[in-house]
Amino acid sequence: MPTPPLAGGTAGPAALRPLVETVLAALHDGAARRGGPLPAGGPDTVTSRTRSATHPLIPNRGTGAEHALRSLVTALAEGAADPAHPHCAAHLHTPPLALAAAADLAASALNPSMDSWDQAPAASAIEADLTTALAAEVYPHAPAPDAVITSGGTEANQLALLLARERHGPVQTVCAANAHHSVARAAWLLGLPEPVVVPAPTGTMDPAALDQALTELHRPLLVVATAGTTDTGEIDPLDAIADLCTTHGAELHIDAAYGGPLLLSPTHRPLVQGLERAHSVTLDLHKLGWQPASAGILAVPDRHHLDPLHHLAPYLNADDDTEAGLPDLLGRSLRTTRRPDALKIAVTLQALGRDGLADLIDRTVASAHHLADLVTKTPTLDLYDRPTISTVLFRPTGTDDHTVATVRRTLLNRGHAVLGRAHADGRLWLKATLLNPHTTPGELQTLLDLVTATTTGLLAQPPTPPHPATTTAQPASPEAAPTPPASPEPTITPAHPTPHPTTAPTHLAPHEATPHHHPTEGDTPR
Ligand SMILES: Cc1ncc(COP(=O)(O)O)c(C=O)c1O
Repeated sequence: MPTPPLAGGTAGPAALRPLVETVLAALHDGAARRGGPLPAGGPDTVTSRTRSATHPLIPNRGTGAEHALRSLVTALAEGAADPAHPHCAAHLHTPPLALAAAADLAASALNPSMDSWDQAPAASAIEADLTTALAAEVYPHAPAPDAVITSGGTEANQLALLLARERHGPVQTVCAANAHHSVARAAWLLGLPEPVVVPAPTGTMDPAALDQALTELHRPLLVVATAGTTDTGEIDPLDAIADLCTTHGAELHIDAAYGGPLLLSPTHRPLVQGLERAHSVTLDLHKLGWQPASAGILAVPDRHHLDPLHHLAPYLNADDDTEAGLPDLLGRSLRTTRRPDALKIAVTLQALGRDGLADLIDRTVASAHHLADLVTKTPTLDLYDRPTISTVLFRPTGTDDHTVATVRRTLLNRGHAVLGRAHADGRLWLKATLLNPHTTPGELQTLLDLVTATTTGLLAQPPTPPHPATTTAQPASPEAAPTPPASPEPTITPAHPTPHPTTAPTHLAPHEATPHHHPTEGDTPR
């Protein structure tokens, strides 16, 4: 086999072009074969189909670029949970913009590594300007705001706790019950005391409980508030929390991984009023920013707050190189080799401008409000609350938590919809996290129709024992995996009779057990 061509240099683009064509064709074919938001059949079926299409992964004699790209990318796309499909809405799992994915190709081809200037001369300049500009969005009145790019909200939260510890010693973190799990993990990782958790009885941090906790606890204290919670998308009362931090001499970090980009929408910016009062802010543009992962950010009001990240490794940032004017990049992250994630973000922001980003945000929030309206108008569904950002919690009326969980898994196993689950108000809810700005009202209605029809179908099933395939132990070899039935769900008995009659839409019979979801006009992936 000839030595494979490289992606960079003047010859790289010509070598890449046919390969990219192959990738694009495979993406198309895989999505068409899937025909829905995720593959039907559940984990065993998908794993076994993926394996048979892709093995052996390490053959003795290579199959060549065309074959490998075609088989693996087709399998990847066929087996994807594709957030570009309007019914794939479980998590803060964004459908990336095509232009951001295209920019990421350039990052892969040139492979700048952000740990030293001699590996990333232009990329480091773009990153420096972008981080300064994003920090100024968060801290418009600070004299020298700055930000670092992270692998996501988890790393940004870790850095926030690390920087607080470096400023003050072993800080006691105080967060609410709605905080992301990465806050407690960061405390654990950094050898800090376990966070004190104050209640969030209505979904957001209770300021009175925070006041009491801050009165009782010993300093140094770091309060972590959330702007856009994972479960409900609610935003803690940021100004009230900042006031309490000032009163008690505590520092404040705001995890705005989800809600932070609202800053870019003049309509919704007031929701995150108070963000600039934090000592650090987490943002994730691979959530409400439509970037392929990873695109996390930690912003601080003063670039010197990042000084503790400074680190000397003479092969990357020797003192004399730095004195001679080579930018020292090592202190911009705890990682060493690092992708130029700033590129796709910069391309997106420049291409769309403030107006374009605001439009995407506004459309997405409007879509969530529309879904909430539709739930309210559906007598067989209950709405948890009006959305704050783009998360809508709802559940079939009069059912128990087991039924809610079973409806979710049935939709997943049939390949019909990807909805999340969240506990709120002492009950389990289906969670739709809308991030697709192309989703239409008709597609939202179809999503609700799928939920009601699935619920009706499950409740109507006679109480037969589960299929043996769902109860047997894992097969010894993946090749021997039995194909589970298309509807491998246990039957459920209603805890309370459904108070409203449910109507199954005519296009989906309640007992329909389709191994493949056939796309209709209303749910074409984009
Ligand atoms: C509020 C919040 N913070 C942090 C994170 C972690 O972000 P990442 O998955 O980018 O590490 C999430 C993830 O959903 C989140 O919802």
